Amino acid sequence: MAPEKDIEDEIRDEKNPRPLDEDDIALLKTYGLGPYSTSIKKAEKEIKEMAKKVNDLCGIKESDTGLAAPSQWDLVSDKQMMQEEQPLQVARCTKIISPNSEDAKYVINVKQIAKFVVGLGDKVSPTDIEEGMRVGVDRNKYQIQIPLPPKIDPSVTMMTVEEKPDVTYNDVGGCKEQIEKMREVVELPMLHPEKFVKLGIDPPKGVLCYGPPGTGKTLLARAVANRTDACFIRVIGSELVQKYVGEGARMVRELFQMARSKKACIVFFDEVDAIGGARFDDGVGGDNEVQRTMLEIVNQLDGFDARGNIKVLMATNRPDTLDPALLRPGRLDRKVEFGLPDMESRTQIFKIHTRTMNCERDIRFELLARLCPNSTGADIRSVCTEAGMFAIRARRKTVTEKDFLDAVNKVIKGYQKFSATPKYMVYN
Ligand SMILES: Nc1ncnc2c1ncn2[C@@H]1O[C@H](COP(=O)(O)OP(=O)(O)OP(=O)(O)O)[C@@H](O)[C@H]1O
Ligand SMILES: [Mg+2]
Repeated sequence: MAPEKDIEDEIRDEKNPRPLDEDDIALLKTYGLGPYSTSIKKAEKEIKEMAKKVNDLCGIKESDTGLAAPSQWDLVSDKQMMQEEQPLQVARCTKIISPNSEDAKYVINVKQIAKFVVGLGDKVSPTDIEEGMRVGVDRNKYQIQIPLPPKIDPSVTMMTVEEKPDVTYNDVGGCKEQIEKMREVVELPMLHPEKFVKLGIDPPKGVLCYGPPGTGKTLLARAVANRTDACFIRVIGSELVQKYVGEGARMVRELFQMARSKKACIVFFDEVDAIGGARFDDGVGGDNEVQRTMLEIVNQLDGFDARGNIKVLMATNRPDTLDPALLRPGRLDRKVEFGLPDMESRTQIFKIHTRTMNCERDIRFELLARLCPNSTGADIRSVCTEAGMFAIRARRKTVTEKDFLDAVNKVIKGYQKFSATPKYMVYN
């Protein structure tokens, strides 16, 4: 009887199954789980909580500021160390007597005090010290304690571009040829110097970028800076115009000195016409400080090795005013012209500048590009901004094609009298 009843039970169960109770669910949950997974999970959670508690207690904030946790502070020994360390004096090592031997001695010149023959401190190795170097000496025995970097004007040091600009080659519309030429000069010799050695030619030392205002000269230089790992120094021409005679030239010298001390370096002179103007006779017999600065640049361009690690870029929109001495081959071999962008480039520039804008879906950028003949990248950027302004005025959240057309009318047609490009007028 019993088995029969069981079968009946089963049939009934299948028709309307019993709801699962808690034990069943717990049993089901164990399927597919490892033997200790719950306890491991629990332990991990506890560890996390504990670490957080420890961090809270010892103040994690401190490590954000670069300090060690207060529990690791040792104020007493720090104080003692500071007392032992005396301020050093700056001197110049003028000569090394019997170098590379056991008892090498160093002649140092402490400015306005005297010259001394001294030895090395404990922390300096003989290979660190060279003739003509600036060194730090202690005040008792005048032993050399530390080699110092060459002294460079802080205003020159400030010109180094520390953080990379966020412009890449993708943000430059058109200018294919220019980008190619620039990369050839800047990247190739730095990455593959052996190609030039094999052929026996010197790579170009520098590039001059010229063209009407707003065609992307500065933009491209910034893209180059972003691309290379080399140190990038940006100088605006007018920064080198100084009050006192010889100051500008000295700044140029220190600039190149700093550049030479780097592994690889690109020096970019923007708006070089501020100092690079052709020399002229002012009729009074005086000489011009600005010209002297320019001649120092010429001199420095001659001074460094073409296969070396320095590349010079210059940008200007008045190439005709520059001094021929600056431009002659051997100094700035490459001259790259930045022309007005053509149809395709203009479309591309429109797309670049509307990338971050909240626009309607299908705006005919080709049409817009066709409507802006003879306009520069800067004009097109202005069109995009104006289109945005129209949208804001109409209290809309997206920019429509009509806004763009209005903006084209306003910027390209309305501001024609400000156009800087009549000289470069070409129909393309
Ligand atoms: N080819 C381009 N692609 C994208 N944007 C461009 C292009 N050319 C110019 N622009 C826009 O125009 C702005 C101004 O360009 P840039 O500063 O490079 O002009 P410039 O050639 O250095 O002019 P100037 O000779 O007056 O210094 C850039 O910030 C960029 O937004
Ligand atoms: Mg510029």
